[in-house]
Amino acid sequence: MGSRASVRGAAVPRPEREGAMAGPELSRSEVCGMLRQELSRDEAFLQGQPHVFIIFGASGDLARKKIYPTVWWLFRDGLLPDDTRVVGFARTPLTVEQIRQATLPYLKAAPEEEERLGAFFGRQSLVRGQYGEEGAFRALDAHLRGLPGGARAHRLFYLALPPSLYLPVTRHIRQACMGGGWNRVIVEKPFGRDLASSDALSRHLGELFREEQIYRIDHYLGKEMVQNLMVLRFANRIFGPIWNRDNVACVVLTFKEPFGTEGRGGYFDDFGIIRDVMQNHLLQMLCLVAMEKPASTDPDDVRDEKVKVLKCIGPVEPEDVVLGQYVGNPAGPPEAQKGYLDDPTVPPGSTTATFAAAILRVANERWDGVPFVLRCGKALNERKAEVRLQFREVPGDIFGRQCKRNELVVRVQPDEAVYTKLMTKKPGMFFNPEESELDLTYGNRYKDVKLPDAYERLILDVFCGNQMHFVRSDELREAWRIFTPLLHSIEERGEAPIPYPHGRWGAVGQPGPAEADELLKRAGFLYEGTYRWVNPHRL
Ligand code: NDP
Ligand code: BG6
Repeated sequence: MGSRASVRGAAVPRPEREGAMAGPELSRSEVCGMLRQELSRDEAFLQGQPHVFIIFGASGDLARKKIYPTVWWLFRDGLLPDDTRVVGFARTPLTVEQIRQATLPYLKAAPEEEERLGAFFGRQSLVRGQYGEEGAFRALDAHLRGLPGGARAHRLFYLALPPSLYLPVTRHIRQACMGGGWNRVIVEKPFGRDLASSDALSRHLGELFREEQIYRIDHYLGKEMVQNLMVLRFANRIFGPIWNRDNVACVVLTFKEPFGTEGRGGYFDDFGIIRDVMQNHLLQMLCLVAMEKPASTDPDDVRDEKVKVLKCIGPVEPEDVVLGQYVGNPAGPPEAQKGYLDDPTVPPGSTTATFAAAILRVANERWDGVPFVLRCGKALNERKAEVRLQFREVPGDIFGRQCKRNELVVRVQPDEAVYTKLMTKKPGMFFNPEESELDLTYGNRYKDVKLPDAYERLILDVFCGNQMHFVRSDELREAWRIFTPLLHSIEERGEAPIPYPHGRWGAVGQPGPAEADELLKRAGFLYEGTYRWVNPHRL
């Protein structure tokens, strides 16, 4: 399909509306209809070639909770090519009916969609086999060729598998399962554990497939507000001139979850919060905040700019990092009374961090001297992901130090919003400044718009051949270069992270270790605590 910006990059015509802000939004079916029209203009995408979506690890957690449901939503909304079939592969003996039962709680199908759901499962089949046996992949290939138009079908291979299986499975796909149409492989993170292992995986994949066949998923790149960063920055005149070291004091990127590892401790303990969230999700957001404007929205132009930013970031210094691990909070509800080490899937005495804050520095002309603080943690006070730019003070104050710094916040989740904290005249018989905000809260502004799940956008992009929101191998390499020395030094030291209470019950100040607040202060972030954004949608 070439390198168009995106089928979804095209302007969607709106019906005439009365007044700029008050008209009804498009319904889901109207939006889907337009997308479908757009897709069908693109090389007969919807009616052309047959497509097969192959899910390795069909019996697993990710397949059940995310991949099958996402493919169903795309099918339900008519966004998949008409002749698309889904084939699961697993060691476990499974029937389509069992897959249906296992995925039903996650499909969110309405009663009136029963017939369509039947059609969806009617296009499914399963192949049983061992991941290490080439014969099993030959059998899979025979099955795929046996489907209508199967020999010439386009094939998407989704590796919903533990990373330890990526090597044999991709080798067998290359040797036994390449179809007559295009072949694309979707790989889930983690892509290695450090620079060396990631390079080894990249080399392995590079020997088997061309880069344009490999789709490395970082699902944060599929989120509405993460994608919006480029539009906000490069489609508006007002932000460009202030988006630099002359005006920005510091940038804070935050990821918080209110729950602990809860049974996923086995996986998590092997990786820790830096590999799980900071090195990928937060760093990707940093790239989109810090990169220069790409030459175009061509996926490679965008990714070239992300790589350039990463190349300007040096390895993270251990003194710029605070690590924490949650402990039971006696003041909280029963689930918060358990600490990380109380999770039976976590090895006793583990020193894996569940919270990390780090300062990164982008040594280029735009950002030299502006700290980028990345903070992420589990078992904190709330679920929240956001990007926050804090601006410098207004020079030449005439208001007797009453003015607070401006902030621009892009709230990724929950309650997507963009808001600017600014000073305004206190309304009425006053002439003193007061903190307020310019607010674009999606729940208010786009009342009836249902935002798609990140995986919906990303899987549709794979069908369309658009790699803009996927991680390229050189990006990945730079990301590991930045974090690997720190990760190795943490492992060598083996020190216990700073304990912090699960949730915020009974605690004062910010959630997580108090040392992280000190780090933020050191980075020049001023937390006034005088003003808090309240989601107007929930008032
Ligand atoms: P699972 O542990 O559920 O594994 C998926 C499937 O792989 C299993 O059902 C099993 O299928 C097979 N499998 C598991 N272990 C082995 C083994 N040792 N040897 C051979 N086969 C094995 O993984 P998830 O579904 O949770 O995750 C899949 C991938 O997605 C991972 O890379 C993970 O990091 C990533 N991911 C997962 C998320 C999630 O929410 N679960 C979120 C983000 C990323 P069978 O035995 O039937 O063949
Ligand atoms: C995953 C991490 O990549 O992202 C999980 O492995 C984390 O630990 C999850 O919970 C968060 O995703 P989201 O979309 O719920 O913010």
